[in-house]
Amino acid sequence: MAPPPLLALEALSVGFALADAVALAVEEVSLTLERGKTLCLVGESGCGKSVTALSIPRLLPSPPAFLAGGSIFLEGRDLTRLDERDIIPLRGSRMGMIFQDPMTSLNPVMRVGEQISEGLRRHRSLASSAARDKAVALLDKVGIPSPARRARDFPHQMSGGMRQRVMIAMALACDPALIIADEPTTALDSTVQRQILALLRDLIREAGSGLLLITHNLQVAAQTGDDVAVMYAGRIVEYGPAARVLNFPAHPYTAGLLRSLPGRTEGAQRRSRLGAIPGTVPGLRLRPSGCGFHPRCPQAKERCRREMPPLAELPDRSLCRCWQILAAKCL
Ligand SMILES: Nc1ncnc2c1ncn2[C@@H]1O[C@H](COP(=O)(O)OP(=O)(O)O)[C@@H](O)[C@H]1O
Ligand SMILES: [Mg+2]
Repeated sequence: MAPPPLLALEALSVGFALADAVALAVEEVSLTLERGKTLCLVGESGCGKSVTALSIPRLLPSPPAFLAGGSIFLEGRDLTRLDERDIIPLRGSRMGMIFQDPMTSLNPVMRVGEQISEGLRRHRSLASSAARDKAVALLDKVGIPSPARRARDFPHQMSGGMRQRVMIAMALACDPALIIADEPTTALDSTVQRQILALLRDLIREAGSGLLLITHNLQVAAQTGDDVAVMYAGRIVEYGPAARVLNFPAHPYTAGLLRSLPGRTEGAQRRSRLGAIPGTVPGLRLRPSGCGFHPRCPQAKERCRREMPPLAELPDRSLCRCWQILAAKCL
């Protein structure tokens, strides 16, 4: 029998208890990530990417966050059925996290080598000297020159790119099956960003682990993703191989995001980053009726305003949630 996928979200819904109401930030999200692969979750700010990602290692503050439905299978085990005390040892050991700003995740008063070896001692019960050696080897692996010397640096003595490499080394330290990276390169310039993404992708392939990469940047997704899932207003609107979704977008939202990339638009549109899609992502309390994207969609018709389209399979087996595409393809 084939092993279960590395990660499978099945109809995951996550809500927040607000002061006067309950609202869903993520609705019926289903995603699959296989070993050795990178799955990019893309969409503008506020679409629900981080809520989806953080609910896997259960890092959302609860309350106000709560699981409203669905399952999260990691290596075949449903994490939603585990107690908090059973999840804690999985963080770091089976799931590694990399966030946008390493300064908020790194301890400013601890040498970076010690921060890496601490995890190794805790999760892998390594002796101090073995943990120290492995920390230096990890710094070497993530491309930090003179790793033995740099292991003695404090985070503030390193550049942003170097700090993010340290975060990657920490996330990889215990050979986790899954790496979740939430906007890991957003704070870095584009050359360093490219280097870090190539490093992450290579390390994931080499280790046979999987990378769930959250980014609002479609160029990052194109460089790194095997598959791409596009989120809008808490739902997946398009999902398939990166080469298909980013070169031949089906959903008007994906097409709009791609049109807004620098170099793809002219004049005034280029000056306004999202000039191709007027309006903004609706807040949790303001989700429209019907298709969540209809108020911003140039192709919206009456049915789009009334009814939520299903996430339907296209002939190439990728997925798209749009009445107009459904009608055009006569599915
Ligand atoms: N702790 C919270 N309490 C209430 N609402 C939240 C909280 N965290 C996120 N949200 C809301 O959930 C929605 C999705 O947020 P998020 O997943 O952070 O978006 P993204 O990562 O795509 O930018 C947003 O409308 C955001 O305001
Ligand atoms: Mg986010």
